Amino acid sequence: MDMQVRRGVFITLEGMDGCGKSTKGRMLAEELVSKGREVVSLRDPGSTDISERIRTILLDPEAVGMASECELLLFEAARAQLTCEVILPALERGAVVVCDRYYDSTFAYQAVGRGLDEELVRRANRMGSCGLTPDRTIVFDLEVDESFERATRHGTDRMELDGEPFQTRVRHGYLRLVAEEPDRVRLVNGHGEKGEVYARMREELLDLLPELSEDIL
Ligand code: TYD
Repeated sequence: MDMQVRRGVFITLEGMDGCGKSTKGRMLAEELVSKGREVVSLRDPGSTDISERIRTILLDPEAVGMASECELLLFEAARAQLTCEVILPALERGAVVVCDRYYDSTFAYQAVGRGLDEELVRRANRMGSCGLTPDRTIVFDLEVDESFERATRHGTDRMELDGEPFQTRVRHGYLRLVAEEPDRVRLVNGHGEKGEVYARMREELLDLLPELSEDIL
């Protein structure tokens, strides 16, 4: 997509399973809608018919023995469809797109977590995202035992079967991204009451979404 014609804002929310990003995404969408913005809330993998079907395969605990390469390509396939079908048109319209996970998850989970070659994963990410880069990425950070307990309280999906050592590697993957791309990727402390965490996240978005600093009358 020609970045010159892009008018919307693309925000992605990241972190380990159970870090609380989905709740904060909903809070952000509500606030922006109340301030008159069009908001498109999405999850990756998912949010299109084709991508939701791929998501079912990816998260099915019975899909045992999935090769890491297969997993990588399925995440990229789901993302390419979501990007072409929904994200790019929404950004062209001028909407704010809030996406629960995007390609930074693939770096953290498939490259650092699973151990796939990092350069290969970065190239796959460029393809799966059709070259699109988020304007801002929020990484919610929590201790692994805390987030893992939250994530598995109501059942365990296939990605969570690998347990805490895997989640620890994922966390390190995210911390590396924050260090590598400090303008785009911002770390937010995920501890505390949800209003507190939300306020920390808003701070990291004010430059892109000036309406967040306006009080509603
Ligand atoms: P999801 O329900 O979106 O995450 P959460 O458990 O945080 O609510 O599940 C998606 C799972 O897929 C999650 O464990 C992260 C993992 N994932 C990858 O391994 N690679 C990716 O590229 C993406 C987008 C997700």
